[in-house]
Amino acid sequence: MSRFGFNWENEEKFDALLERYPDKQSLMLPALWMVQYQEGWISLDAIRFIAKKLERTPMEVYSVASFYTMFQLQPVGKYHIQLCRTLSCMLCGSKNIQEYLQTKLGIKVGETTPDRQFTLSLVECLGSCGTAPCMRLNDDYIENLTPEKIDEILDGLCHDR
Ligand code: FES
Repeated sequence: MSRFGFNWENEEKFDALLERYPDKQSLMLPALWMVQYQEGWISLDAIRFIAKKLERTPMEVYSVASFYTMFQLQPVGKYHIQLCRTLSCMLCGSKNIQEYLQTKLGIKVGETTPDRQFTLSLVECLGSCGTAPCMRLNDDYIENLTPEKIDEILDGLCHDR
């Protein structure tokens, strides 16, 4: 029995999408996105909920959710930093940026700050190799990263808190 449920907005969205897709299984990715935007991450409860809605097994839903790195299967901070570690970014200094972020935030890759504001992750190519090194900050891309740029952006976020 799943304790997770869509909020009314997602419930309406899901029903509307059902009309447009050829079958329920095709709604797997949209349903996972809805959960992630609603909760910030995708719990096992939510996976069971989606499985029931799509008439699939929880394992089928989990296998899709765990395949894509954009889906978070653990809680993340309010601001999720996903730093690219693939070749172009690495050649342009992403390792130094990683060390700078770790020092600035006081956490290692895969960790969340104690105030639950920032999570730091490493991901594969973000498709922005021409402006390496780059990272995602929630849904935004930050490119041509330097320590100064990171200070400017993250310190700005801290003032907004
Ligand atoms: S290698 Fe980093 S965006 Fe492509």
